[in-house]
Amino acid sequence: MSLSTRPQIVQAQGSPSSRILATGHVRGSRVVSNEEMCTMIDSTPEWIEQRTGIKERRWATEEETPRSMAVEAGRKALAKLGLSGSDVDAVICATVSHHRPSPSLATYVAHDLGAFTAAAFDTNAACAGFCYSLNLADAMIRNGSAATVLVIGVEKLSEMINIADRGTAFLFSDGAGAAVVGRSESVGVGPAVWGTASDQVETIEIEDWSQVAGHPEQNHPLIAMDGRAVYKWAMTTVTAKAAEAIEKAGITPADLDVFIPHQANDRITDALLRHLKLPESVTVCHDIADMGNTSAASIPIAIDRMLERGQAHSGDLALIIGFGAGLVYAGQVIVLP
Ligand code: UT7
Repeated sequence: MSLSTRPQIVQAQGSPSSRILATGHVRGSRVVSNEEMCTMIDSTPEWIEQRTGIKERRWATEEETPRSMAVEAGRKALAKLGLSGSDVDAVICATVSHHRPSPSLATYVAHDLGAFTAAAFDTNAACAGFCYSLNLADAMIRNGSAATVLVIGVEKLSEMINIADRGTAFLFSDGAGAAVVGRSESVGVGPAVWGTASDQVETIEIEDWSQVAGHPEQNHPLIAMDGRAVYKWAMTTVTAKAAEAIEKAGITPADLDVFIPHQANDRITDALLRHLKLPESVTVCHDIADMGNTSAASIPIAIDRMLERGQAHSGDLALIIGFGAGLVYAGQVIVLP
């Protein structure tokens, strides 16, 4: 059969654009102050606050699992639209905290939400996980493979803290942030700028289970990070990529209303702000102060909390950018729900 007589497959027709329609979040219920943290590590509350902007963090209880937190955040986001799980075509969980290799966390979350036939899978792009997954959701909606996608960043990092490492133990926190992404006539998710600096692949790592097996007192793989190296990389590469995301969206920094970078360190946020020359009119997210670093969950939690507090508003143009283990990064300009 010649090529011209072969049956031609047809392409699904998607929506011209997508946008985030609603968000929801949940935070670990235990408040852990810097004072309490300093009963566990050799540090001072002042040092932690000055170096990072963190005053307190949220740790989940034993009952608060990545699964339960993801479900709660997802349910809250769907409820704002009067939707339930059965309205969702795909569930994507961005996480490094799901310790079962298979099935994915997203399949459990889809089950618990009643999204019984939805496509479901996890992404592992560390602290860039939400931005990576939002890029996938946008593509899925535009190529017609889904109309409504639930993207959830969720982490329970308190289980993976190396308490013997005073250089990182105070950073991490637990929670989930969800976004319902759906069809839109106007562009609500700008082009993603994403990639890796794989020459620095070993800069942040979580142990594998064989390493845990050698330490019976340890229940989970632990996080190891060269914080100073991440910091330096963020100052150069992440800044440049954030500028590129603004340019690719076809706007200028003065058009932005809100800047929501991954909540890793307020000093990184401030430096990004200076390098990007964002005008003073841009509202800058400092959610880290009473939340700590929740990796893939930090951006969606921050979006929802800023909207709740009236620090950001529906229709605002926001630059989001995540960066972390890999070293990976992803950023885009979005319209807030
Ligand atoms: O979310 C994934 C991406 N991760 C990040 O983006 C993290 C990026 N990195 C950071 O946020 C920062 O590097 C940290 C907050 C982790 C550390 O801050 P830093 O300013 O880079 O500190 P450092 O590791 O360079 O240490 C400076 C000094 C050292 O003492 P000397 O060698 O100067 O005498 C450390 O021993 O601070 C000391 N130090 C501490 N002192 C009191 C390290 N940890 C502590 C501590 N309390 N907890």
